[in-house]
Amino acid sequence: MTELTQEIRRLKQQRNAVILAHNYQIDEVQAIADYVGDSFYLSRQAATLACDVIVFCGVYFMAETAKLLSPDKTVLLPEADAGCPLADTITAEDVRELKRLYPGVPVVCYINSSAEVKAESDICCTSSNAVRIIRSLPDRQVIFIPDGHLGDYVAKQVPDKKLILWQGSCVTHAKVKPDDVLKARQRHPEAKILVHPECSPEVVALADFAGSTSEIIHYAENSADKTYLIGTEAGVLCQLKTSRPDKEFFLLHAGLYCPNMKKTRLQSIYQALLDDQYSMKLDERTAKQATRTLRKMLEMV
Ligand code: 13P
Repeated sequence: MTELTQEIRRLKQQRNAVILAHNYQIDEVQAIADYVGDSFYLSRQAATLACDVIVFCGVYFMAETAKLLSPDKTVLLPEADAGCPLADTITAEDVRELKRLYPGVPVVCYINSSAEVKAESDICCTSSNAVRIIRSLPDRQVIFIPDGHLGDYVAKQVPDKKLILWQGSCVTHAKVKPDDVLKARQRHPEAKILVHPECSPEVVALADFAGSTSEIIHYAENSADKTYLIGTEAGVLCQLKTSRPDKEFFLLHAGLYCPNMKKTRLQSIYQALLDDQYSMKLDERTAKQATRTLRKMLEMV
C-alpha cells in the first residue's frame, strides 16, 4: 500500500467518510473506493449510507445529486471542474419554455442534469431505469431531457408513448459510429456488442445489448460468450478485466475516454478529505424541488 493510500484511509476513518466512484473512474480511484457503480446505484448509496462525509469521484451533477439526497452530510467533489457537457446542454429556462410549449405534459429528466433543471422537472431517471419510469407514467406524451439518444432508445422500448426530446448528447458516446461497429464485428464475428444507450440510435441498433454501465458489466461478467465489444467509457473495463481475466474486451472506439471522469486522482481525493474541497452547496429552494424529483425516482424503482 502506498503512503498516499494509507493517508486517504486514515483521513477517511478520522472523518467517518465514504468514497463513492462511478464506473468511469480511473483504476486507482475505483480500487480505493468503498462503492463503485452506475449513477442509480451511487445515488441510492448516497441516500442511505450512514457516514458524515461522502467523497464523490465522478462529475459535478453526481456530487450535487448526492448532496440533494443527503443534505446533512458533507459531500465533496475532488475535482471542482469535472463537469458534464451533456448536462450543460439544457438550462432551467429551456425547461420552462418546453413546459410553456407543451402545457400539462410531464417532464422526465435524466440524472445527467443540473439541480436547477431537476427542480423544473417532474421525475428523474437514470439509464438503468428510464424505460421503466416512462412506461409507468399514465400520460401518453412525455417530455424527456436532455439526452436525445437515450430518449430515442426509450421511445423505441415504449412505442405507445410519444416522447418530446431535447437533442443533447454525450460527446464521448457520440464518437462511436456505425462504421466502427461494422468493422469491429468483421474483426471479431463471435463477439457480443454491448453499448450504452447514450450512443447514437444507429449504433444501438447494431448492438446485441444496450444498458447502463453496471448492466453492461453484469452482462459481460455473466454471459457465456468469451469476447465483447464495448460501446461506453473505458472505465468499465477496470472491473471486467479483474473479474473476468478469462474473457476478452475491446472498445468500439479508441477515444472512449471521458476527460471529466478521468480528472480525479488519488492526490485529489486526499486533498478533498484534508481541506474539505470542493464541498457541494445548494440553493435551498432549488434543492427542495430537485430533491422531490429525485425522491420520486427512488420511490418508483
Ligand atoms: P450510468 O451511470 O447510468 O451507466 O450512465 C453513465 C453516464 O452518465 C453515461 O455518460
